Amino acid sequence: MEQIVILDFGSQYTQVIARRIRECNVYSTIVRFDTPASEIAAMNPKGLILSGGPSSVYAPDAPLPDKAIFKLGIPVLGICFGVQILAQFLGGKVERGDKREYGKGTLTVSAASCALFQGLPAQLQVWNSHGDKLTRLPKDFVVVGTTENSSYAAIEHPKRRYFGIQFHPEVVHTPQGREIISNFVHGVCGCGKNWTMRNYVEQATEEIRRQVGSDRVILGLSGGVDSSVAAALIHRAIGDQLTCIFVNNGLLRAREAEVVQEVFGRNFALRLQYEDATKLFLQKLKGVTDPEKKRKIIGKAFVDVFQAATKRAGKAKFLAQGTLYPDVIESVPIAGNPAAMIKSHHNVGGLPKNMKFELLEPLRALFKDEVRQLGVELGLPKEIVQRQPFPGPGLAVRCLGEITGNKLEILRKADAIVVEEMKAADLYYKTWQTFAVLLPVRSVGVQGDERTYDFTLAIRAVESQDGMTADWVKVPYGLLEKISTRITNEVRGINRVVLDITSKPPGTIEWE
Ligand code: XMP
Repeated sequence: MEQIVILDFGSQYTQVIARRIRECNVYSTIVRFDTPASEIAAMNPKGLILSGGPSSVYAPDAPLPDKAIFKLGIPVLGICFGVQILAQFLGGKVERGDKREYGKGTLTVSAASCALFQGLPAQLQVWNSHGDKLTRLPKDFVVVGTTENSSYAAIEHPKRRYFGIQFHPEVVHTPQGREIISNFVHGVCGCGKNWTMRNYVEQATEEIRRQVGSDRVILGLSGGVDSSVAAALIHRAIGDQLTCIFVNNGLLRAREAEVVQEVFGRNFALRLQYEDATKLFLQKLKGVTDPEKKRKIIGKAFVDVFQAATKRAGKAKFLAQGTLYPDVIESVPIAGNPAAMIKSHHNVGGLPKNMKFELLEPLRALFKDEVRQLGVELGLPKEIVQRQPFPGPGLAVRCLGEITGNKLEILRKADAIVVEEMKAADLYYKTWQTFAVLLPVRSVGVQGDERTYDFTLAIRAVESQDGMTADWVKVPYGLLEKISTRITNEVRGINRVVLDITSKPPGTIEWE
């Protein structure tokens, strides 16, 4: 398949570059900065992008590429640090700028004929983030754009079709960055628009059939986006050779188990093995209040139940998992690259290494937004495709203190009202997560003529890009009022509703 290869020099935006290219319907792959040119050649890319990065090319431990990449004979686009690499290897000069160029700037396109800026106005808003700057052009390069602070903001080697831009076209603060990237991948590299989820379904189906042959596959279906899309895709490829195991741990939200059974059991008619472990989990969690202990107990119980379930499912060679591309990309361990530090800190659903399966991971090449598109393509309902993240330990981390069947039931009812009202106001799918938390706090209230002494419920609504940082959503007062009134009227056991107005950091999204 036609693709663009991105050399990652440790920029926090490398994955964003890859996604922007894919949004142009062109496949893109990220590789480490020092990947041998022979390996890159074997991938047969139509073009190469050198990402930004936090280093300086002159630093002793600067990440440098294999110089043979400049013999591949394909177009190259260097972004930010990528320009320094072009300069370093092709005879230019980079120096520490007297001023850091950070934030918004205006690019003046000085060569209207430059392929990178075709169809764009002569002045563009761009977003910069660099300290070092180019002070001498690499050999045979010409200037094609300037900014207030840089006379070499965009450069081109017309013959070799090499380009260097000091600003970041991939971020939203460069509003026409998409066109620049599109011009590079389509106009310069000559890529078609073949990367679509419709094409991917065909290609992935073939690939799954080839890999699996006549063997059987087991998949742990949680009802989340990734495992659901993986299940639908694999089922399309191999039908009844797939068995999905769904564990109901009793910590799910209202109607969650029913939706999974309706969608997959009835609509898709796939082999669904439903494991009701609600009593077991409740029993193991009895008397436990420590958040970490709760998580450990749930993680272990899940593995036990799942392992026993796989035995009942009969012999299978493969275990399918909804691994995504961001989990696969090897992060570049460069100091100052937040992407190198940000790695998921949880995943309780992890299965023991000793399970004797080969892995089947049909979503390994995809970003989350692509997985959602694929889900739509496969006919999954919005409820599943647009589903908000839900933690592995489920309602256990939203039911503070000891967990009991009664408290879970109260929480489920209240949570369902929060979700229903947010959906009715068309706000639910616009937030990253919106949910209810049952606090181990009782307070005095008065309902009718009666004095009550009941639980307090917190509403948590956050917006976020990736769950690593988050801000609380300013839900309209009228809607909060409606939610609060409904909860105190309809849910026995709650007489007080509060709103969580903490961002992350310092708070976390979940309460435990
Ligand atoms: P926190 O609470 O750490 O959560 O701000 C960040 C994101 O991760 C989700 N989360 C989990 N996801 N297993 C998961 O798969 C877990 O144990 C877990 N704990 C938290 C949380 O919902 C939020 O989206």
